[in-house]
Amino acid sequence: MPTDTLLQVEHISKTFRVGGKSLHAVENVSFALEAGKTLGLVGESGSGKSTLGRLVLRLLDSDKGKVVFDGTDISRLKKKELRSLRRDMQIIFQDPSASLNPRMTVGEAIEDAMIIHKIGTKESNRARVSELLQRVGLPENVKYAYPHELSGGQLQRVGIARALSLNPKLIVCDEPVSALDVSIQVQVIQLLKDLQEEYNLSYIFISHNLAVVEYLSDEIAVLYLGEVVEQAPADELFQNPSHPYTRVLLQSILNVPENPELKQEMLSIQGEIPSPLNPPSGCAFHPRCTHATDLCKTVKPERKNVAEGHFAACHLVD
Ligand SMILES: Nc1ncnc2c1ncn2[C@@H]1O[C@H](COP(=O)(O)OP(=O)(O)O)[C@@H](O)[C@H]1O
Ligand SMILES: [Mg+2]
Repeated sequence: MPTDTLLQVEHISKTFRVGGKSLHAVENVSFALEAGKTLGLVGESGSGKSTLGRLVLRLLDSDKGKVVFDGTDISRLKKKELRSLRRDMQIIFQDPSASLNPRMTVGEAIEDAMIIHKIGTKESNRARVSELLQRVGLPENVKYAYPHELSGGQLQRVGIARALSLNPKLIVCDEPVSALDVSIQVQVIQLLKDLQEEYNLSYIFISHNLAVVEYLSDEIAVLYLGEVVEQAPADELFQNPSHPYTRVLLQSILNVPENPELKQEMLSIQGEIPSPLNPPSGCAFHPRCTHATDLCKTVKPERKNVAEGHFAACHLVD
């Protein structure tokens, strides 16, 4: 493992039991993430993005595989041993109000994270709350407000301030801008980018929208029914998309660059994502793929190297 690798995920899998059947939510996913870099995770709803994010943070236990964070294999650590590492790994959600107590003011919510982790004194923590609010672009008096008094964009900034309060090394951003207006999305993404540079943060940035992950990501992994079907450095993925599914995702953002709802609609035109409880044979994407051959219907494709650091799991790639 090179010295600046912060996170190494190796062959991680998670199966849920649903109504007596096995649902493979995440299947054999591997990647590495360097300090100060962003991995974008993209795929339609139900492709396993949130499950993967939670596995990485050990908010969920994996069935197979391991997660090495900052040199420690955290997959087998006991709860108590995990506690000190928790500070270094934070998460930001699509709906920040869901993770904020409605009866706590914004200031109390941010301070609370520091109290739980026994950081600082009352005075130093209060000063830090003001500093963090300012850093995420909110007026200081927002600390007296309750979550319901804030807009979606303001709440997401509070969620970011709360995550930052512990000086983490890694933040999993799970669809952090998906519920926001497009103009606000751009501001929040820019803030995340500035904070990354300032604090050398690593991000796993999750979105169903490839256009959203593009700006932040150094590397992008495309998930389909729990598996990474293509992965490459971000520029390379956009210049040379090799899996038909990635090309569908790309077309949908190129054709309708402005309106996120329209983009979603374009995606659904290609047919619905199959149920992970009953995945298609062969290549899981074959029922929706305009290039599918008989081979695709029966044999699962191996990963093929397209270029340095770029692979696609597709029979049509040679
Ligand atoms: N706790 C759970 N129990 C059963 N199934 C789950 C659970 N969490 C997620 N799933 C299923 O796992 C699959 C992946 O879900 P998720 O990771 O939330 O996808 P995404 O974030 O890409 O929308 C979905 O089919 C979802 O229904
Ligand atoms: Mg999700």
